[in-house]
Amino acid sequence: MLSSARGRLLLFLTAAVAALCGAPAGAAAGATCQAWLVQSIPTDMPHLRRVPGVLSTADVLQWLSGNATNNLDILAQYWQFLAQPKNPKSGDYGYSESDMVRFGVDEGHRVYKALEKAADRKIEIRMVQHSGFAPDYDQESANLAAGRPNVQNVTLIFGDWWGSGVLHAKVWISDKKDVYIGSANNDWKSLSQVKELGIYFTNCPQVAKTVEVYFQNLWTLSTLNATAYTKVVWDKQWQAFRKVPCWSHFLQPEERCRSPLPLSVDIPYVGGYPSLANPEMLDFLFETPGYKRSTREHHLSYLSFAPPELSFDKFQADEQGWVDTIKSVKPGGVVRISTMDWLGQSQYATQTVFWPSLSSAISEVIFSKNATVRILVAYWTHFIPNTENYLKSLLYSNILCTSSKYNHCIGKVEINYYVVPGYNETGPALTQDTATGNRYPDFTRVNHGKYAVSDVRANIGTSNLIWDYFYTTAGVSFGTYKPAIVSQLQDIFDADWYSPYTVPVKPLEASA
Ligand SMILES: *[C@@H]1O[C@H](CO)[C@@H](O)[C@H](O)[C@H]1NC(C)=O
Ligand SMILES: *[C@@H]1O[C@H](CO)[C@@H](O)[C@H](O)[C@H]1NC(C)=O
Ligand SMILES: *[C@@H]1O[C@H](CO)[C@@H](O)[C@H](O)[C@H]1NC(C)=O
Ligand SMILES: *[C@@H]1O[C@H](CO)[C@@H](O)[C@H](O)[C@H]1NC(C)=O
Ligand SMILES: *[C@@H]1O[C@H](CO)[C@@H](O)[C@H](O)[C@H]1NC(C)=O
Repeated sequence: MLSSARGRLLLFLTAAVAALCGAPAGAAAGATCQAWLVQSIPTDMPHLRRVPGVLSTADVLQWLSGNATNNLDILAQYWQFLAQPKNPKSGDYGYSESDMVRFGVDEGHRVYKALEKAADRKIEIRMVQHSGFAPDYDQESANLAAGRPNVQNVTLIFGDWWGSGVLHAKVWISDKKDVYIGSANNDWKSLSQVKELGIYFTNCPQVAKTVEVYFQNLWTLSTLNATAYTKVVWDKQWQAFRKVPCWSHFLQPEERCRSPLPLSVDIPYVGGYPSLANPEMLDFLFETPGYKRSTREHHLSYLSFAPPELSFDKFQADEQGWVDTIKSVKPGGVVRISTMDWLGQSQYATQTVFWPSLSSAISEVIFSKNATVRILVAYWTHFIPNTENYLKSLLYSNILCTSSKYNHCIGKVEINYYVVPGYNETGPALTQDTATGNRYPDFTRVNHGKYAVSDVRANIGTSNLIWDYFYTTAGVSFGTYKPAIVSQLQDIFDADWYSPYTVPVKPLEASA
């Protein structure tokens, strides 16, 4: 208590001296922390309004390597910065060199070369990845590690720990101060053929330090014997038998093992990971040069993590980051949500789990706060067929809202599909040397960003909006009440929402 009060006094004095000398407040303790929103916009979308001051993913990933002087820690699902149009097993197969250039393949090359240079400069590089994607999606990290003792590559199989799931967080941490968190995979397509959204921090040790704990947790898991550290339990919250780490709060306290990871808040008499009343918040000043160079005002930020067994201290689970962002809306305000996938259930778990967490939060704010909630969901080649049932079910809230003359409910939910042109003509150009007629490589032409923004708070995530991503899969969100980030993210959403690339989802009719 005393020492923290003293710390604050010291901070105040330092700031006061800096202010007297006319220097920026942060200068005394090193350069100022800055944050920018980051996007990838697929080629051939001429009618999408560009939001000024937003950085490109390819630049940011290149800079994170280029600026590294000590270390680089990377969480990636898989690797394919270098395209493989000559590999018959690749979704790039059969496209000509000039096609590939037109698709923006050079961006991936540029990012890979910057990483390779960092490896040659003897930067300590650590990479944690999932594995098992065709054709050879962990080859690039293996190539970077080959013959370089300063580069370490490990694979972490979530199925061994949670029964299913993957390492799906996309995080780069450079020199314990520069960070990328967002939707972009380590894939050339994520730079120029898939729409992505993330955030880039420079000189922000507060953010880096916290994400680094999460990175280290994943790293530690990769060194442990999952068989010895997992149990199959009856999960009361989700009404399913499932495998979890033995320190999981889904186990009864007496059944739990001692966690090999830094501990998270433990609430007696409570099972699972309920929402925290006062989750850990990050209180640090940062500038937003891409929107407004600000302001000494304090606005709280946070990080949230999935699965909850990997959370630590009082940091909230990733689901709470999303739910609380929806619930942060002011009466009569607007919540904007952009996602690739949307399901009110699980996708990969053995037992199918029903998951109303986000749709409940949405219905709650449209009912009692008259909020408007706008949702963009990707429509693309690998669209999950029962998505539309869940979207229509959510749209039915509008009918329920006005279903009684005694309701005081004028909120509403509006849902559009986001359709990137060319989405229905993706795949390899050749199969067994026969032309397919496809115009773009596989797994392209899709909105892959994952974020929510109310009128006061933004949540920038890495998780698709399906149960598994919050309970069996690695994901991270950065969230903030900083008005500059909130406004610019709203603007990015509105550029998409009011573009010609959206189509309304039709509601169910009210029965007579
Ligand atoms: C370092 O990062 C800054 C932006 O944060 C960028 O302008 C610069 O080009 C980067 N340097 C290298 C060598 O990548
Ligand atoms: C890591 O890289 C080395 C060197 O290329 C390779 O032999 C090994 O298979 C890679 N490990 C993983 C987990 O990818
Ligand atoms: C992992 O743990 C299981 C159960 O304790 C044990 O049977 C197995 O031998 C261990 N595997 C390794 C590689 O240590
Ligand atoms: C929502 O709108 C209704 C109808 O206009 C009004 O009676 C109610 O007070 C509003 N609720 C809030 C929280 O603004
Ligand atoms: C793809 O969709 C566009 C626009 O709806 C349509 O014109 C085109 O014929 C479709 N292509 C295929 C292969 O279905």
